[in-house]
Amino acid sequence: YDRINVAIDGPAGAGKSTVARLVARKLSYIYVDTGAMYRAITWYMIREGIPAEDDQQVDLKVRDMVIELIPEQDVQKVLINGEDVTPHIRSLQVSGLVSQYSKIEGVRSRLSHLQRQMALRKGVVMDGRDIGTTVLPDAEVKIFMTASVEERALRRYKELKDAETVTLQQLEHDIAMRDRLDEGREISPLRRAEDAILLDTTHMDIHQAVEAIVSRCRSYV
Ligand code: C5P
Repeated sequence: YDRINVAIDGPAGAGKSTVARLVARKLSYIYVDTGAMYRAITWYMIREGIPAEDDQQVDLKVRDMVIELIPEQDVQKVLINGEDVTPHIRSLQVSGLVSQYSKIEGVRSRLSHLQRQMALRKGVVMDGRDIGTTVLPDAEVKIFMTASVEERALRRYKELKDAETVTLQQLEHDIAMRDRLDEGREISPLRRAEDAILLDTTHMDIHQAVEAIVSRCRSYV
């Protein structure tokens, strides 16, 4: 049967990437983690010493950098100018600054363009904040995945290796702050597309969320 595109959006820590990866595996589709691309740019700018306030410098830098997303079995690698930056992008420092960089127009237009190209041949499960609204408004299946902020913080807490260094309360605060910035930005803010299915996973496990999405996809094609 025909392949489709699946857009999965939602706030930080809702489990989008875990679920999207499993959905892609079940359908034999390609998984694209767009958050990893914003994180990679953020890490690179920090290393280059370019603050997000200097959006002109950020624009210039982002224009001449080569960004590649390499699907490698389950983990995907992000390369910037050929350098694998994947090991650095999940740090608390990057998480704390990524929303500042991701609101910059040059960053968004560059990445949206790349993301659209990756979905041209269909058969893609893409997760992020603006996939259903802006990147792939024609995606055949759109999901808006949420969970309560307490539940999302708890999930993050459990998956953090250095959990001792950060409190649950701090994580909850960080997540709520990131959501506010992502929802409040001018260009393609985080919001549910009108035709997206709302999936509240507060009381769902991963398997249930995956099944809900896969069955949607199967009923579509
Ligand atoms: O999904 P993840 O939590 O890794 O995303 C990190 C950040 O990247 C988000 O908080 C948001 O600021 C930005 N992002 C975005 N648009 C996307 C994906 C991520 O602005 N499509």
